[in-house]
Amino acid sequence: MATTIGEHSPGDELFNAFKYMILFSLCFAFFSWRNIVKKGRPPCMDGWIPWFGCAIDFGKAPLDFIEETRRKLGPVFTIVAAGRWMTFVTEPEDITTFFQSPNLDFQKAVQDPVSHTASVSTESFFQYHTKIHDTIKGRLAPANLHNFCSDLWGEFKQQLEQLEHHGKDDLNKLVRRCMFAAVVNNLFGAENVPTDKDRVQEFSDTFVKYDADFEYGSQLPPFFLREWAESKKWLLSLFSRSIANMERKETESQTLLQSLTKMVDRPHAPNYALLMLWASQANAVPMSFWVLAMILSNEDVHAAVKKEVQDHLGPPGDEPITEEDLKKLPLLKRCIMEAIRLRSPGVITRAVDKPLKIRKYIVPKGHLLMMSPYWAHRNPNFFPEPDKFLPDRWLDADLEKNLFLDGFVGFGGGRYQCPGRWFALMEIQMLLAMMIQMFDFKLLGEVPKESPLHVVGTQQPVGPCPVEWTKI
Ligand code: HEM
Repeated sequence: MATTIGEHSPGDELFNAFKYMILFSLCFAFFSWRNIVKKGRPPCMDGWIPWFGCAIDFGKAPLDFIEETRRKLGPVFTIVAAGRWMTFVTEPEDITTFFQSPNLDFQKAVQDPVSHTASVSTESFFQYHTKIHDTIKGRLAPANLHNFCSDLWGEFKQQLEQLEHHGKDDLNKLVRRCMFAAVVNNLFGAENVPTDKDRVQEFSDTFVKYDADFEYGSQLPPFFLREWAESKKWLLSLFSRSIANMERKETESQTLLQSLTKMVDRPHAPNYALLMLWASQANAVPMSFWVLAMILSNEDVHAAVKKEVQDHLGPPGDEPITEEDLKKLPLLKRCIMEAIRLRSPGVITRAVDKPLKIRKYIVPKGHLLMMSPYWAHRNPNFFPEPDKFLPDRWLDADLEKNLFLDGFVGFGGGRYQCPGRWFALMEIQMLLAMMIQMFDFKLLGEVPKESPLHVVGTQQPVGPCPVEWTKI
């Protein structure tokens, strides 16, 4: 029988049926293969598009996505996003494995982001990373903090004295204005960084740009992030000049920057300085903001902290505040710990170097193992009423002996735990004690929520936090 245009011959139909059968078999084979491969692995959120996975949903609000997926898939789960297989552990009983397992590797997890954000070569990174970590840890150990206290007090005093008698601003900006230059001068040496007002402002503004897109910069090629790439270039060139100057005039005192740059390969010295700048500012500045915002928004706590500061420090004077003075402010310290609990980094990460058994699952080599201090700190078994700011829960910890509460992982853990943690606690306590000693603060609105957009480091507020101050 003849066929006309638009009609199908039996041969065509047979061919079509054959085509669909092949397509169906391929799909079946693909999904069976996926199921075989995934057998024994944690439940996985991998989207419909291979490799790309759930990159879009994850990217929209990664902090919220982690918790939503935990609710759907349970305490251990994998997320596939843009070629990365990230397995999350969310329960406290898996913390020890995360920090102690020999199958996990800190350096392999951070090397690639370090190379993107600070252009440190793979070879240099593996050669110097441990040495740098140990030097920072040693220089900023509790026994050495007295070396920093007096100068830091002087730096903070200088910044605070420049504030108007009465003013209004965003609290986050205000804290940065008081902290950024003071801490940079203290750790890097005032003679090695810009000190005149306009240049300091440019330095601080450029750092804010670098910090804002640090997380994207750690994954995307620079042409997607022009402004961020410019800020990185600006900061690297600043450190290139500082280090060249430092070499010309050898001084006896060794700032942390000087120790650091002397131990690494010379071409990468500015790059390590940039990393050090980021590590020392990216968490401590927003965290100081959160502590003060939480204190100011809790009337009783605010009154008690103010009284503690007035009773033990008295009015501002010319004598530096010492470590001994800070020990007399335990309530302020508890407020700091509680704010860190509530605003801890969204994730910390380790590379799975050998297959890792977690509960009934095997996590294969090549995955990134992720833990979320932010969500771990919202476990009611460890922190009852987890969303509330309750500084007195820290009465159960021996903070004088530097012991934290069980389940607290705000500074990470294991071999590469935050080496700046004791310095961070000291600087935040000193700055806030001095601010409360010198000024009356009043919030002019609600404290903004934390942004769910970033998971690396302390969250930024979603909007401004207007505050008014008057010099006492
Ligand atoms: C409240 C403030 C701070 C918080 C919450 C914080 C938190 C953290 C966390 C969670 C890590 C990752 C640790 C891990 O994966 O186990 C880390 C690493 C690090 N922190 Fe901090 N940090 C703070 C302040 C500081 C300060 C002030 C410095 C330096 C002066 C510093 C220096 C570093 C460095 C260098 C690393 C990387 C360690 C390495 O690569 O071996 N941090 N920090």
